[in-house]
Amino acid sequence: MEESEFIFKKNVEIEGSSKWSSPSNIALIKYWGKYNSQIPKNPSLSFTLTNCFTETKVSYSPKKNKREGISYEFFFNGKSKPRFKKKLDNFFLKIIKYIPYISNHHFKIESKNSFPHSSGIASSASSISAIALGLLEIEKKTNNLSKNFFFKKASFLSRIGSGSACRSLDGPIMLWGKTPFFDKSSNLYATNFDKKINPIFLNFQNTILLIDKGEKKISSSEGHKLMKNHSYAKVRYAQARENIGLIKDIIISGDILKFIKIVEQEALTLHGLMLSSNPYFILMKPNTLKVIELILKFRADTKLPICFTLDAGANIHLLYPEGVKLIVKKFIDNELKSFCQDKSYIEDIVGKGPKKIIE
Ligand code: DP6
Repeated sequence: MEESEFIFKKNVEIEGSSKWSSPSNIALIKYWGKYNSQIPKNPSLSFTLTNCFTETKVSYSPKKNKREGISYEFFFNGKSKPRFKKKLDNFFLKIIKYIPYISNHHFKIESKNSFPHSSGIASSASSISAIALGLLEIEKKTNNLSKNFFFKKASFLSRIGSGSACRSLDGPIMLWGKTPFFDKSSNLYATNFDKKINPIFLNFQNTILLIDKGEKKISSSEGHKLMKNHSYAKVRYAQARENIGLIKDIIISGDILKFIKIVEQEALTLHGLMLSSNPYFILMKPNTLKVIELILKFRADTKLPICFTLDAGANIHLLYPEGVKLIVKKFIDNELKSFCQDKSYIEDIVGKGPKKIIE
């Protein structure tokens, strides 16, 4: 679909509310580097999660003073959060073109996460997608939207707020970015992995080992900017484009050894890019490396198919099939937990995407 097809042309006024729960996602092929228009430099692919989600209620009413700018209040866990204002202001301003009723309504947005706020887990994917769904409900209520278009447009709007958020609108595996390996792929929104997924990936486990619950040293937006003048940018984008083709075959075949290799390589490449950018960033902690070494040793000793990935921080996402869940749990409790801050970790599993909450 073209960008212009997402412009809602009616002028509507309506009062009401809607509540959505939207999950986080973890990239297997990483998005790192973008054009100013929130178009990715390379396609990325992710597992949608289940237990890490944001629940958001969007209440709306026609605005009294129509000449006022964008009018909204934002509450996180019941408290107003001025820290999110800049990101949200920006989001609203950029999506007004596609849902113009933003300008003649007042919004109250009430949000909470299923995971601890200060866990060092990126929450922009779940929080932005949950808001996008709530805002889009107005268009849905005043126009006849197909389910398919609704989620596609929610993904389109989410992308504008935060790139990776566009991959949270469906599951279990989502792709964002144009690639010759998938006919329906787009730079504007994410699409579902539309080939037959090997059953091993349908209930894949993702345990997030909370190595460092602190704030990220560098925001993703800053990180993407570092790719603009990065010496390795060109080869990285070429590698990611190729990796999308490789992972497509792996997800269909269920070749777990190849899966492990590509997923870990992507994670370490992401950190390699940060280590080699100007200025450079070291986002792993000593315990990140200790845990990685233990995972590699455990895999070599047991021959069990577990692997890790990382986002732009110190925490580790441990990925493994459901069949080895019990033995991996023992491994985490006996050997890895002590390297996590406050011994904490979050058990998650791939999921199907957002849920509407009826109050
Ligand atoms: C390392 O989507 O958070 O998690 O588009 O600037 O909001 P913005 O960036 P963001 O970047 C995510 C980067 C990543 C990799 C990924 O999720 O693909």
